[in-house]
Amino acid sequence: MDVLVVGGHGKIALRLLGLLAARGDRARGLIRKPEQAAALEAVGAIPVLGDLEAAASLEAQVKGADAVVFAAGAGPGSGAARKATVDLGGAVKLTEAAQALGVRRYVMISSIGADRPEAASGSMLPYLEAKAEADRHLIASGLDYTVIRPGALTDDPGTGRVRLTTELGGRAPVSRDDVAAVLAEVLHTPSTIGVVAELFSGDVPVSEAVQALRPAQ
Ligand SMILES: NC(=O)c1ccc[n+]([C@@H]2O[C@H](COP(=O)([O-])OP(=O)(O)OC[C@H]3O[C@@H](n4cnc5c(N)ncnc54)[C@H](OP(=O)(O)O)[C@@H]3O)[C@@H](O)[C@H]2O)c1
Repeated sequence: MDVLVVGGHGKIALRLLGLLAARGDRARGLIRKPEQAAALEAVGAIPVLGDLEAAASLEAQVKGADAVVFAAGAGPGSGAARKATVDLGGAVKLTEAAQALGVRRYVMISSIGADRPEAASGSMLPYLEAKAEADRHLIASGLDYTVIRPGALTDDPGTGRVRLTTELGGRAPVSRDDVAAVLAEVLHTPSTIGVVAELFSGDVPVSEAVQALRPAQ
């Protein structure tokens, strides 16, 4: 499987690219800074250059992909403008490129709270509004989507055990290792198409938790 991970040098993305490369996928990561290429190559991934904000379209980078993953983010230090151009605009550009090229599979890293952005305050409000709108746009796109909404991310070592639930409104941490493991499994599990799920640390093995996912009725 050829997978393009957008935001390829991100902390989750690098872990995901390594897992995909190790299982034999063609793992490509989109980066905007050429100096980050070596870090991708070190985990067996192929760097692809492109800037989500500067590029008019991502079709050149998406071409050849069987699936795309949105793992980019403007980051906590950014203002509302970059949340609009990266967290929302970048995700929408990726959706449009996938639609134009007939790439059906799209896995989104969203966030807890995106089900109720209006409940947020401070810098979380524009962030969650951007994430919620990006998710809505993807869900309406007709693509084969899975939206994964992790809780607060940590750099703790992964446990390989998680809680994945389509009941929204939870709040708990999860390690980036475990998020990456879930995303790798989701990409290879077609029954997760149409699912919007929250993800926390838990006690169910990743594979079992992903295989059990079904779209909420
Ligand atoms: N932090 C949390 O607790 C939390 C909770 C739930 C969900 N999330 C979501 O999870 C996502 C992934 O987390 P993470 O920790 O892996 O993120 P991260 O390490 O901050 O990675 C984000 C990546 O996005 C890239 N990026 C930013 N602007 C770009 C642009 N214009 N074009 C191309 N790439 C661009 C960055 O590249 P540069 O190096 O070029 O800037 C960076 O590699 C976050 O972005 C967030 O939306 C976070």
